Amino acid sequence: MGLESSVPSEDDSEYATDSDSSTSSRASAPAAEIQDFVRVKKEKRALATKLRAKEMEVESLHAIIRDLQQQINAMKLTTPGNRTAATTPAPRTTTIPRPSIPAPQAAHPRPSSNNTAPSGSQTRQPTSISRNTTSTSNNTSRQHFTEFTVDIYKRKGEASFVGIYFLTKPIVVPVGLDLIQNILVKDFSSFHARGMYVNEVDDPLSAHMFSLDGERWKFIRTKLSPTFTSGKMKYMFPTIVAVAERFVATLDDIVDRESELEMNDFLGRFTTDVIGSCAFGIECNSMNNPNSAFRQYGKKFLDEPSLALIRNILITLSPDLARKLHIRALRKDVTDFFLDTVRKTVAYRKENDIQRNDFMDLLIQMNTDTNEDGKLTLEQIAAQASLFFFAGFETSSSVMTFCLYELALNQNIQEKVRQEITQIMASHNGELTYEGMQQMTYLEMTINETLRKYPSVPFLMRSTVRDYSVPDTNMVIEKGTLLFVPVHSIHHDPEIYPNPELFDPERMSPEQIKGRHPMSFLAFGDGPRNCIGMRFGKMQTKIGLIALLKNYHFATCSKTPNRIIFDPKKGILTSKDGMVLDVTKI
Ligand code: HEM
Repeated sequence: MGLESSVPSEDDSEYATDSDSSTSSRASAPAAEIQDFVRVKKEKRALATKLRAKEMEVESLHAIIRDLQQQINAMKLTTPGNRTAATTPAPRTTTIPRPSIPAPQAAHPRPSSNNTAPSGSQTRQPTSISRNTTSTSNNTSRQHFTEFTVDIYKRKGEASFVGIYFLTKPIVVPVGLDLIQNILVKDFSSFHARGMYVNEVDDPLSAHMFSLDGERWKFIRTKLSPTFTSGKMKYMFPTIVAVAERFVATLDDIVDRESELEMNDFLGRFTTDVIGSCAFGIECNSMNNPNSAFRQYGKKFLDEPSLALIRNILITLSPDLARKLHIRALRKDVTDFFLDTVRKTVAYRKENDIQRNDFMDLLIQMNTDTNEDGKLTLEQIAAQASLFFFAGFETSSSVMTFCLYELALNQNIQEKVRQEITQIMASHNGELTYEGMQQMTYLEMTINETLRKYPSVPFLMRSTVRDYSVPDTNMVIEKGTLLFVPVHSIHHDPEIYPNPELFDPERMSPEQIKGRHPMSFLAFGDGPRNCIGMRFGKMQTKIGLIALLKNYHFATCSKTPNRIIFDPKKGILTSKDGMVLDVTKI
């Protein structure tokens, strides 16, 4: 009798017991075959049990998702009015319950997409305001984070911090500048984490400097700091100037045909080319080719994947479960593209012994470090290079866009900046030199005033690594609590900046800055976890603006937004209605 006829059908196996396998009908089968049969049957049974367990897991996940969806529909963030930590002192041990670690995974915080920041909560009617003012309200069901913090910040006279809830998760919003200084600088050892979602297994690019905490963050930050010295900036200066020249050449052709241009898009293409060149050593050429792979993947990175809200809530409330479910921080195609690009770049440079003294070079040195402890894997290199790319291109293009908008509205300021540029360049033989750029102090003040009014990153994130007793109170912020520093609100505080909607670069003169609290301007954060790329970001912003203001005049037109509504889907401050300006050649 062959084995085939001795194997029971699927149905038989359901009911057969182990002892059945030795019944007389099979007794003639060789012992080895019987053993095999028993083993296969056991394996089948174990698999069936596993399958049933998985089905139950999936069912319970569906239940969680249904529950989350219900919570989203009824979502209301508890505002200071009805539940605060700071204004309702509680016994030290119960001040703020310990939350789980929150979610965001973008290079810079993305309040409304990858973060736990509110969206879809209470809406507000926009107040009627004239041009040259900003509104964070958009009269839609989705609220920008900056608007949400307006109400919280109003309580700054009552306490140094306010407690809010995101669903069940407590969040601390510090509003007193002294406390903020403690958090960012003086007591940094208690607040060195950002508490972001990292899933290195499914998504190696999520383990970058912005999202890593503890020793791993410290290791990478220390290793990469020499990349951003002023000496390195000077070295990269000509590369950026060359990109700016190509930018102007392309714009010349376009301005010949049309004068009303969407500046947000153009400036995004410029900064993509700059960072692509300095971080990857690749000519992205998105100025001439808006569909270049770098531009496309850069944009995709910022697109919200479907079910983003549910995903983010899960990441926030239960990061461990999110990791078990293989929830990624980034889209797979974006990860694959950047991993592949870095792999090819590293291989090419190593094979051809190419040195460019750019970001990529320093990362490659860390890959070849002979000390195993100091070595970065290819995935880790790719994570940092991609971070520079994402951190660098949108922040700087946001500042440039809002700066040109304000200069279009304030023609006298535009003229003053242009005069400074022309005069200083004339004193450097008509050339743009690094030293000349450093001498353009009014341009620097204008950029800083833009960042005051429109901080590209509207809030800073920290997470407590140990219980923290808030000075001069009986309050304790428990270990693991997430903190949001409301940068946009501080920058619009009339007690710090009188008439905050007025665009006035003089506010940023060294004399005026000296008279303010050091935490009054936080566009690049502060303390050991501040923006490592500040020098680079400022340099590319300046070079881009110099090239543009020297060659073109900017004015508003009928398509220019009357007031700025921030796009609630974007973490980096962006005008929801775009930014069309009238551009004419000088
Ligand atoms: C105008 C442009 C830029 C602005 C306004 C900006 C703003 C910021 C802010 C507010 C933070 C958080 C700081 C904190 O939490 O205290 C940050 C962090 C960071 N930025 Fe930027 N940034 C800009 C450009 C860049 C560029 C060009 C790069 C890289 C090439 C970069 C790389 C980073 C990195 C790596 C961090 C994380 C630092 C850490 O956690 O140790 N940024 N940036």
